[in-house]
Amino acid sequence: MKTYLVGNWKMNFNIGESSVYLHQILKQLRNFSDLELIIAPSTLALQPLALQLSRRRVRLAAQNFYFKDFGAYTGETSISQLRGLVDYALVGHSERRFLFKETDKDIRQKTAAALRHNISPILCIGETADQRTFGETTDTIRDQLLGGLSDVSSEQLSKVLIAYEPVWAISSTSTPKIATPEQVSEVIEIIRKELKALYGASATKNIPILFGGSVNPVNAGAYLTIPGVNGLLVGGSSLILDQFIDIIEVAKRVHSW
Ligand code: PGA
Repeated sequence: MKTYLVGNWKMNFNIGESSVYLHQILKQLRNFSDLELIIAPSTLALQPLALQLSRRRVRLAAQNFYFKDFGAYTGETSISQLRGLVDYALVGHSERRFLFKETDKDIRQKTAAALRHNISPILCIGETADQRTFGETTDTIRDQLLGGLSDVSSEQLSKVLIAYEPVWAISSTSTPKIATPEQVSEVIEIIRKELKALYGASATKNIPILFGGSVNPVNAGAYLTIPGVNGLLVGGSSLILDQFIDIIEVAKRVHSW
């Protein structure tokens, strides 16, 4: 399987800055045929970056969209309006769940909408610090998988990616902690087991599972060597050129492309 690296730029960089930064990344990329490099810029930058990337093997992801295709939804952008610009879309990111109160129902509808338009949803799941403390990690992961995937058939599942992002390890939280590879490994096993229970072994063995949460060039290698981890979802470090390029280099070394 390829290695997936997603740079989630969140609400950073205007159009010009996005374009210059992407140009700098492209200049430094070498031999990355086994890498699926995915950039999630602001919605505003998707069109110019899509033009800039024409025929380059770097993909774009939407950070957000509305599940309806069109209509009277002031301020929203539909996934059908993003068709042709993005190959992937983040769904269920914890910042959307907690800051913008997205529910499992919203997430389920967004997952289904992305798949309807042949765009791969990257379904983000992960427990909070309290859920972990109270021993609710497995239930939370199961509920979020069920919540996000309940309208997804086993045929459609082959287009889905899962990102495990423990909320307490994300750098935007007030007291981020680094997840140990052991903690990550345990939950990756839970995710694989739950997916298997939902869809069976053969439909799920090739589903990419990414890890995200304060990933940086120093810890990237340890996460990428965890069995069952196929890539990384990187926030803060994806905004710093040297760090992002270093993470790509680490991935290249660890997965020996
Ligand atoms: P971080 O963000 O790498 O800054 O922790 C990851 C994410 O929120 O996707």
